[in-house]
Amino acid sequence: MDFINNWAIIAYDEVGSTNDIARKHTFNSSYPYFVVTARRQTSGRGRRGRNWISISGNLFMSQCFQLNTQHLSDAVFLVSLSLQEAIISFAPQGKTQLKWPNDVLIENKKISGILLEKGENGYIIAGIGINVSAAPTNDTNQIYPVASLSDFGVCTNCQEVLKAYIHAFDKNYALWQRHGFAPIKDKWLKYAKGLFKEIVVNLEHGQEVGIFAGISDKGALLLRQGDKIKQILAGDIFYKEENKINE
Ligand code: BTN
Repeated sequence: MDFINNWAIIAYDEVGSTNDIARKHTFNSSYPYFVVTARRQTSGRGRRGRNWISISGNLFMSQCFQLNTQHLSDAVFLVSLSLQEAIISFAPQGKTQLKWPNDVLIENKKISGILLEKGENGYIIAGIGINVSAAPTNDTNQIYPVASLSDFGVCTNCQEVLKAYIHAFDKNYALWQRHGFAPIKDKWLKYAKGLFKEIVVNLEHGQEVGIFAGISDKGALLLRQGDKIKQILAGDIFYKEENKINE
């Protein structure tokens, strides 16, 4: 078994979804911290019932650790902030941003996605896909433009990206354990795209427009509408200056 810091790395050649395999491991794992990776993924899943087209050469992983369910929303930001910091270490500074709730963008194109699910025995499963070497073309499942690290001239591999991510995560996790969600939220907001700008939020039913005013202590999007602040727990945000695709 390989380890990166305290994380056992359980590597597969081919799986349906790393999240499904990770869930099986959470029934009886002897590792408190483990990551399931796969070189190929045949039925990758995305948020809100979408597929995740999994091109070989990209990183597919599911990170599992035990967390009280009351902290689930903190985990979304811990993971996405750590991904952002890992990706910044490869990609040009200043061009990498976070889109609520958890996408990393380079020059406004989605590079990675996170699917957070609950496992057994108090584990959470953070399923992470990072387009390292290629981005799907004509992917009708994605509602945002996508790209890969290699589209930006970054020459790396999945192992290097995984290491950078684990190192960033461990630092942020230690910060969170010492000081709670506040410093994670502050760091996350520094990278947030569209803060204090007008955005459109597509909800499951309908749409809201307002100013992106921040995130709550529970990770909800704060949307200013006149003198009111609306809290939104789930949705897809679009920035006013950009056109949506595939919708
Ligand atoms: C999204 O942006 O919609 C989330 C995509 C999450 C994809 C990853 S790839 C590894 C893990 N296994 C899955 O089936 N999904 C996640």
